[in-house]
Amino acid sequence: MAKKKTKIMIVGAGTYQVPLIEKARSKGIYTIVVSPDGPYPGLKLADQVCYYDVRDEAAILKVAKEEQIDGVITDQTDIAVRTVAYVAENMGLPGIGYETAKLFTDKIMMRDRCMELGIPTIDYKCVSSYEEALEFYKSLDSNAIIKPADNQGSRGVFKIVSEEKLKERFPETIGYSGSGRVVIERFIEGTEFEVDSIVLHHEEKTLMHADLTPYNIPDVFASTTRLYPSTAEKKVLENLLQTNHDVITGFGLKQGVTHSEYIMDHRGVIYLIEAAARGGGTYISSHIAELQTGVDVNDFLLDIALGNRKELPEFETGRCACGYVTFYLPEGTVKAVDGVEEIRAMDSVCKDAFDDIYVGLHTEHFEDKTSRYAVILKAVDRDMLMEEISAVKDKLRIQVETKDGIKGPVWE
Ligand SMILES: Nc1ncnc2c1ncn2[C@@H]1O[C@H](COP(=O)(O)OP(=O)(O)O)[C@@H](O)[C@H]1O
Ligand SMILES: [Mg+2]
Repeated sequence: MAKKKTKIMIVGAGTYQVPLIEKARSKGIYTIVVSPDGPYPGLKLADQVCYYDVRDEAAILKVAKEEQIDGVITDQTDIAVRTVAYVAENMGLPGIGYETAKLFTDKIMMRDRCMELGIPTIDYKCVSSYEEALEFYKSLDSNAIIKPADNQGSRGVFKIVSEEKLKERFPETIGYSGSGRVVIERFIEGTEFEVDSIVLHHEEKTLMHADLTPYNIPDVFASTTRLYPSTAEKKVLENLLQTNHDVITGFGLKQGVTHSEYIMDHRGVIYLIEAAARGGGTYISSHIAELQTGVDVNDFLLDIALGNRKELPEFETGRCACGYVTFYLPEGTVKAVDGVEEIRAMDSVCKDAFDDIYVGLHTEHFEDKTSRYAVILKAVDRDMLMEEISAVKDKLRIQVETKDGIKGPVWE
């Protein structure tokens, strides 16, 4: 009898799950992709599609059992992380365990665990009403930030500088929380970093680290650039990587790829913003990690999901300077897109999102991270990388007709 083809279930069919689906198919693995019906590019690539909300754990487990899958996986999105752990745990397949998945997808559980572990923790409170939030805000005697306990992509995240703003924004924030819980915490002014790790058998190894530059737009909590490797001074970097090690091992992660963000205040204290038990979105996991380390993360993820990996890969990080630059488009209608071919011809440009931008596209008001467009670049060092980023900005000419006239991309 012919050997049954290996079957993997991939949860999520968005742009950032495409590299994983393609990798699985290129390895001859049968792919069952789970996603709601919609304009998701991964749907067209799958051998088989199941239309479910990716958070519908029970329904997805039922399909997984019927199909007798050999492994289950996601990447670059948080919303599928619990479902993947749930299916794996219930079928005895390799996974991180449901409790660990909850910890890595709940900002309050993350803060609670950091406190228990003795890792510096931003002053925070879990609240479920405006009144509770107000009480904590008054006790902070400084600016605060509110976020849903369990969402991603900076949806419902707002800086709070007055009681009025808290009152105005609180309903939106709580509306984005599936569990009706909101974190209110001290707003830290500081420098932001990212650290990504690779983990197997509870052994954590740094994949890469980056310097983040936030947008200078109120309540847009997204990075305009993420540049790898970080150029922070040695002592800061050591502290950062040690903190990340303490977080990832302290959270009990057995295997996978992690993507965490940190902020350092003016005293040099490094705080966890959040840690994810999956690779970074915006092609960080599928493209940037390989540029930094030579490790094919998609391959690693598929291997561990199928139980085919005994050891962590050998690699050195910081092989080049690389990263992404992103932009938003203002609200309106795209009238012209020029310079794309010139940008694509640059040796430094590795991947871009220009296919999503075309004449006639209607763009909406932006506030969360999800409507950014990214260009991934590499260079020999940071200075060269900055020059290449400037060249991309110069070459790209997009015209959007807005209610205030023609405008171009928003880069900062
Ligand atoms: N306590 C804080 N102080 C200052 N900035 C913060 C704080 N918490 C979050 N941020 C900023 O907001 C962004 C989004 O918050 P985060 O907790 O990562 O939510 P999300 O899951 O939506 O990405 C962070 O990347 C960071 O730039
Ligand atoms: Mg975040």
